[in-house]
Amino acid sequence: MSDTAYILYLISSVLFILALKGLSSPESARRGNVYGMAGMGLAVVTTLCMPAITNYALILFGIMVGGIIGAMIARKIQMTAMPQLVAAFHSLVGVSAVLIAAAALWSPESYGIGNSGSLHVGRLIEMSLGAVIGAITFSGSVIAFAKLQGIMSGKPIRFGDQNKLNAAVAAAIVVLMIIFCGSESKFIFTVMTLLSFAIGLLLIIPIGGADMPVVVSMLNSYSGWAASGIGFTLGNPLLIITGALVGSSGAILSYIMCKAMNRSIFNVIFGGFGAAAVDSGPVAAASDKPIKSGSAEDAAFLLKNSGSVIIIPGYGMAVAQAQHAVRELQVELEKEGIKVRFAIHPVAGRMPGHMNVLLAEANVPYDSVTELEEINNDFATTDVAFVIGANDVTNPAAKNNPQSPIYGMPVLEVGNAKTVIFIKRGMAAGYAGIENELFYQENTMMLFGDAKKVTEDLIKALKH
Ligand code: TAP
Repeated sequence: MSDTAYILYLISSVLFILALKGLSSPESARRGNVYGMAGMGLAVVTTLCMPAITNYALILFGIMVGGIIGAMIARKIQMTAMPQLVAAFHSLVGVSAVLIAAAALWSPESYGIGNSGSLHVGRLIEMSLGAVIGAITFSGSVIAFAKLQGIMSGKPIRFGDQNKLNAAVAAAIVVLMIIFCGSESKFIFTVMTLLSFAIGLLLIIPIGGADMPVVVSMLNSYSGWAASGIGFTLGNPLLIITGALVGSSGAILSYIMCKAMNRSIFNVIFGGFGAAAVDSGPVAAASDKPIKSGSAEDAAFLLKNSGSVIIIPGYGMAVAQAQHAVRELQVELEKEGIKVRFAIHPVAGRMPGHMNVLLAEANVPYDSVTELEEINNDFATTDVAFVIGANDVTNPAAKNNPQSPIYGMPVLEVGNAKTVIFIKRGMAAGYAGIENELFYQENTMMLFGDAKKVTEDLIKALKH
């Protein structure tokens, strides 16, 4: 590789770091995306200009096929289906790592890394790491995709001696890696890779429900390390750096989310290893308990007579695309002199930052958007908690019911407000599939209907 290529790769790496920095806040996220695109554009052009690249027709064909599929997915995908799309993409990174490691083992001469049968042990370590992490990422992501897409049940799947089996498979993989690095045996490589596919699956099946977001970000991190592994095999420094950036930023995000969900990072990395076996909890069913439901006019009356309102958006707001109506509601209430803030739970919606993105799209000012820790104590002194399409993130079972699958997760304590208004279409459960006691609470009013339609009706009622 020429010095110019090294310098251009270095500039790309800096642009990727600036992209990550930009993406850390909604205000600078757009700029971050521009840096990321510029970095990737520069990286691709630099790579294409290398003397080793000769078959442009094949590369252009690959770019065209991938580009068309990518563009079609980007146009069609719903924001609410992002987590499964991300999981599907991670699986592709994983399988690429496995295929490149296998290709390098079977034909090292084509990669210029030595001759078959006499590869340097360093190369074998790189290949085995790439293949193992890639295979785990692939099968783990496929399971995460199936769970999030509803192809398989989202509930944790547990069986007796699961942890012992996981530990035995993990130990077998480590032993096989050592044997492979000493023998360069293709057979050992194949068995090791197959066992890695198996452990990826075993690690993700016991995780479910509200813990899935952490799994997706953990798999994101694994896919980064797998890409980094490929970078070593291909001798491409930019891939090593980019993979490490994805790997470490994914790991940091997982850590932040684990903290937000009050989960142990080790339980997530080791697939629920050592986690207390929890009952899947009561699945929401139409309960006989009485509820109070009201109309848009009732809600408008309550809101108009309040001094402070906290809006809690959730997945239902995203489904209904009600963010613009919610922003209009905020404007109307503020015209009446009412203090309006938003409370965002770290896992509200279906992807990290989901609610922030939607509210930013609707031009909700950033200074009225608050995080869980910032605002949780303020519910007690708030007149109306206005919950729009959120459910699990407000469920007090996380605090009160040790048997609940969301037990231990911090939730927005909306029940402490003077009045709670819940907008949802019916009494259905949220993602975790558990009943929410708050619906039956004395100070709760249910407002049934599609989040966008109900909010629009409410604004009309407020105006008149
Ligand atoms: P959920 O607990 O999933 O509740 C959403 C509620 O919205 C449902 O109860 C549903 O009730 C209602 N809803 C759906 N469509 C609606 C519409 N058109 N209009 C009005 N209401 C509608 O959402 P949440 O409180 O945001 O919690 C998120 C959950 O997803 C957590 O369990 C979290 O762990 C999980 N999760 C999060 C992520 C990330 S990273 N954020 C990723 C994967 C999973 P009705 O059907 O009765 O209307």
